[in-house]
Amino acid sequence: MSHYYQHDVLVIGSGAAGLTLALTLPQSLNIAVLSKGDLANGSTFWAQGGVAAVLDAGDTVDSHVADTLDAGAGLCREEAVRFTVEHSREAIQWLIDQGVPFTRDEQHQEEGFAFHLTREGGHSHRRIIHAADATGAAIFNTLLARARQRPNIELLEQRVAVDLITDRKLGRDGGRCLGAYVLDRQTGEVDTFQARFVVLATGGAAKAYLYTSNPDGACGDGIAMAWRAGCRVGNLEFNQFHPTCLYHPQAKSFLVTEALRGEGALLRLPSGERFMPRFDPRAELAPRDIVARAIDHEMKRLGADCVYLDISHKPAEFIKAHFPTVYERCLDFGIDITRQPIPVVPAAHYTCGGVLVDQRGRTDLPGLYAIGETSFTGLHGANRMASNSLLECFVYARSAAADIVAGLAETRAPERLPAWDASQVTDSDEDVIIAHNWDELRRFMWDYVGIVRTDKRLMRAQHRVRLLLSEIDEFYSNYRVSRDLIELRNLALVADLMIRSAMQRKESRGLHYTLDHPGLLPQARDTILVPPTYAD
Ligand code: FAD
Ligand code: SIN
Repeated sequence: MSHYYQHDVLVIGSGAAGLTLALTLPQSLNIAVLSKGDLANGSTFWAQGGVAAVLDAGDTVDSHVADTLDAGAGLCREEAVRFTVEHSREAIQWLIDQGVPFTRDEQHQEEGFAFHLTREGGHSHRRIIHAADATGAAIFNTLLARARQRPNIELLEQRVAVDLITDRKLGRDGGRCLGAYVLDRQTGEVDTFQARFVVLATGGAAKAYLYTSNPDGACGDGIAMAWRAGCRVGNLEFNQFHPTCLYHPQAKSFLVTEALRGEGALLRLPSGERFMPRFDPRAELAPRDIVARAIDHEMKRLGADCVYLDISHKPAEFIKAHFPTVYERCLDFGIDITRQPIPVVPAAHYTCGGVLVDQRGRTDLPGLYAIGETSFTGLHGANRMASNSLLECFVYARSAAADIVAGLAETRAPERLPAWDASQVTDSDEDVIIAHNWDELRRFMWDYVGIVRTDKRLMRAQHRVRLLLSEIDEFYSNYRVSRDLIELRNLALVADLMIRSAMQRKESRGLHYTLDHPGLLPQARDTILVPPTYAD
């Protein structure tokens, strides 16, 4: 038997964005926060480096804005950048007030600022506040503990949102988002969640690639659901590859934080030669697109499996104190980073584009918000600067919460919604097709829509993704939904949107680098895709 739930606010996603929004809303509202696995399964828990913010007395908003615009290769929306950076200090203060145990700095204590700030690529100043090298876990655990103390917040695990419910889909007047259909993985039933406001906080889509730093759930579910509901998406061709993920046959998705380079680690070829100064005057601290491309170039030139990140020239005690997670994890694989360089390769890391929103997190669909990595605010442009994404989660979650509060008086609960119709489907007896399609999709995205692209590779990718989409559609119409099927359906759609966006960009800008159009067009333009339903 399926269930019917009613809430004031339905938050799909329990990462930094979703939890911040839930905690910022008034306690008089009844709120559901969904996670499709356990509550910690998003990217937030794995964030290492920290959160960028203007906190040091010698730093300025203008400097953080200028660095972000520079990394974004001419495509950031300056008003979004300024808005985010201007709210950075208060967002960090809110986190400190919640109890996040950021690393302290005894030296600065006397100057009135108690926290250590590190550096990362693209930043001209020390401005990354962090909890050693496990900042995401420290933030997530603190916010989750706070949310658990709130009787008005219901935290629901193992619930996979399948699709949004809208007036349009039900053939009703009004044009609002009314709720979502959600698979309960324990019962196998699809439940109906009705809400006055729905918030997508579902994270990114880096799982579209064979090699990624992201956890398994990063399938772009929110982007796909919003698109199907009629929302525009933007700049999906800009997929960020993190330059340094651990290269080891048994190390699945382990990131080696950019803060190592911020504290002096050097990139070296297998011969020991340092190479980044040949590519950019900022060397190891150039923005990520430049570093990842340089590594890719050197690996292809030499036929090397990886390059090396070396911090062994720093004192062992310093390394262990600042990077305990990286130190321990590498040691598990027999690499002592206080003595040896770390083998690293680039891997898909962050989705710069997403669901188009305004400064209050509002999408094209009234009643529907998108925050965090799933959204496209204009902050990141053609390349996100390190540690700006957690900041974006906090700033936009707080501004979306304020907008929801402002709209409460005029928004009533929708009329009762129909239950999910599973009368036409049966249990699948061919799950091998799902597994095969997963592998195929992630492999051709890696090969054809990766760090270096060409028109021909993109056309090949488009051809293949269209075939997969029709096969998946048929499967979806005939068989009962499962988490794997829902994710594959979403990821294939988002991959198609990424390829379409990449094909439209006839230049090389930021993270989108194509051999067929190596130059920059004189004017920087966003790639905005409009769903058929929106254009109707
Ligand atoms: P997430 O934290 O990814 O959470 C997504 C949530 O949505 C999860 O709860 C998931 O279960 C849920 N969800 C998704 N789909 C569905 C569905 N269909 N139904 C129900 N629930 C769903 N950024 C920085 O700024 N600084 C860093 O130091 C940093 N380090 C990083 C290190 C790693 C290894 C990775 C992977 C990322 C890092 N990033 C960093 C990026 C940053 O962590 C993410 O952009 C950010 O955490 C995204 O937060 P979010 O709340 O948008 O989504
Ligand atoms: C890292 O710690 O290198 C990741 C930082 C980020 O993705 O912003």
